[in-house]
Amino acid sequence: MKAVKLAAPGGLDHLHLANLPDPGAPGPGEIRVRLHASSLNYHDYLVAQRTDAKYFGRIPMADGAGEVEAIGPDVDEFAVGDAVVSTFFPHWLDGEAQVGNFSTVPGDGVDGYARECVVRPAHWFTRAPKNLDHAEAATLTTAGLTAWRALVCDGRLKAGDTVLALGTGGVSIFALQLAKAMGAAVIVTSSSDEKLERARALGADHTINYKADPQWGDTVRRLTGGGVDHVIEVGGPATLAQSIKAVRIAGHISLIGVLTGGSGDIPTAALMAKQARLQGLIVGSRRQQQDMVRAIEAIGLRPVIDKRFGLDQLADAFRYEASQAHFGKICLQF
Ligand SMILES: NC(=O)c1ccc[n+]([C@@H]2O[C@H](COP(=O)([O-])OP(=O)(O)OC[C@H]3O[C@@H](n4cnc5c(N)ncnc54)[C@H](OP(=O)(O)O)[C@@H]3O)[C@@H](O)[C@H]2O)c1
Repeated sequence: MKAVKLAAPGGLDHLHLANLPDPGAPGPGEIRVRLHASSLNYHDYLVAQRTDAKYFGRIPMADGAGEVEAIGPDVDEFAVGDAVVSTFFPHWLDGEAQVGNFSTVPGDGVDGYARECVVRPAHWFTRAPKNLDHAEAATLTTAGLTAWRALVCDGRLKAGDTVLALGTGGVSIFALQLAKAMGAAVIVTSSSDEKLERARALGADHTINYKADPQWGDTVRRLTGGGVDHVIEVGGPATLAQSIKAVRIAGHISLIGVLTGGSGDIPTAALMAKQARLQGLIVGSRRQQQDMVRAIEAIGLRPVIDKRFGLDQLADAFRYEASQAHFGKICLQF
């Protein structure tokens, strides 16, 4: 079985394809999955850059999708041939958030899905939407579920709401697609006019080039007559002040990303005056993923995949992600 491993001293040049022993037959409560796809997230990119020894030998990638090849005793949720997709927090099945770190996350604290085959407890996967291929399904584990949780579970999105999505990466384009399918109006920002045109083609109601308009928070407030109901905040410290301007009084900001760093100044008084909810979140639970899978089938959503790479091209795929030339998701297909 082929798998990609991160070798010492870490970094993209040290991702190498290895031949590993076959994982064998599933035991009680386990399934054996023939993996056919993964998708790249900024988090996976950060793992590939790690230089601490505990990451050497790690199989990266949190997202995995494929087909059930065999089931162990006591597995009744899946059958051989089912299309499945991995979960980000294998042990957070339902209820409130329980995990505040990445120690149990495949591709970070434990081995992930840059491999051809895996045997895991059945609850580490959910079924995949019937309308998606494996690469499309792989985008659900991290980017899809993050957007779903931010808007639907935590945001309680309803038709007629307004949503602001920052940039045109995986999470934001998912948010655009979900919000439009559910009857919301969406504003998208980007550094690229060409990407903004693509966002409009996907249904974005307004677009703003955040390089040309650094005070985009004011522009959003003007466009919406007071601010949006939901902000998909993937930038972090360098964008949060504008997001606070952009949100309506009593609106909701989902603090998702670290694209501009891990800490910084926050205009706390402005946030207080807005009486907005600022919620940090990391992906979601297995139950939330199951609900999202059902919704994706119901609305017929097809994730936007910019480019597909082979398993042996993972480093090139990460370099492409780092160039920020992509729109939506980048996938591995094998
Ligand atoms: N908390 C969670 O559960 C969770 C889950 C998934 C991802 N994340 C985080 O969310 C962030 C986005 O993840 P992703 O996978 O969607 O990344 P991605 O696909 O790599 O997105 C990159 C895009 O973000 C946009 N961007 C970069 N800097 C920006 C800025 N200053 N303002 C606005 N947009 C900016 C750019 O869009 P343009 O090219 O259009 O300018 C860029 O192409 C990352 O920090 C990631 O770690 C968090």
